[in-house]
Amino acid sequence: MKINIISLFPEIFESLQYGVVGKAISKKIISLNLVDLKEFSTNKYGSVDDTPYGGGEGMVISPEPLHSALKQTKGKSHVIYLTPQGELFDQKKSKKLSKIDEITLICGRYEGIDQRIIDNFVDEEISIGDYVLSGGEIAGCVLIDSISRNIQEVLGNKESLENDSLSDGKLKGHSYTRPENFLGAKVPDVLLSGNHAQIAEWRIANSLWTTKQKRPDLFKDLQLSEKEMILLREYEARIVKSGE
Ligand code: ADE
Repeated sequence: MKINIISLFPEIFESLQYGVVGKAISKKIISLNLVDLKEFSTNKYGSVDDTPYGGGEGMVISPEPLHSALKQTKGKSHVIYLTPQGELFDQKKSKKLSKIDEITLICGRYEGIDQRIIDNFVDEEISIGDYVLSGGEIAGCVLIDSISRNIQEVLGNKESLENDSLSDGKLKGHSYTRPENFLGAKVPDVLLSGNHAQIAEWRIANSLWTTKQKRPDLFKDLQLSEKEMILLREYEARIVKSGE
């Protein structure tokens, strides 16, 4: 997948050289094409923004430099503008975007970009949450990290993706590692039992229970199988019994 990034601060994307995304870049599964918007300034001051028509606070990114930058990305990619006015990004959207060969991310700053760019060149507007960031760059990093995880070849074994929280609308359950007893708190017995079938069932129940506790909004949309319902009921009964 090729990802073009149009930004005033392309350096922010350097953080993506680490970890899973960094590996995907070095294996050439994804390639980042950083386009510095400042290079497309049309004036002698090197600026790419201007005051808003009609007055008001702040500055708006001008259409001409953005248009030139978009032309450089050859015009056949899926263009996303990162903005708090966009559709909320989630795992479903991430999976959908991971199937596209080439995307272009426009990272805004200040009071946003000229509306005519959005109307004529942007395929979709995406927000990463109901809060305002200083610009779209960090949101862009979030999208790239998440989308990369959903590209088949990126996570070595398919299972690590399937284990991700939200990959099937559920949260990931609890994880434990050595020691067995940490400050008096023990690892659940079943995880030490070596009984793989029971461990698998515990993981299903624990994931459902975690989702129900922490994200009732997600839980109510789950279509539980008969088996899952039984496992969850048994899990909850055990919690009540042990007085947790
Ligand atoms: N730019 C500023 N705030 C943002 C947000 N919440 N999501 C995406 N881009 C943004």
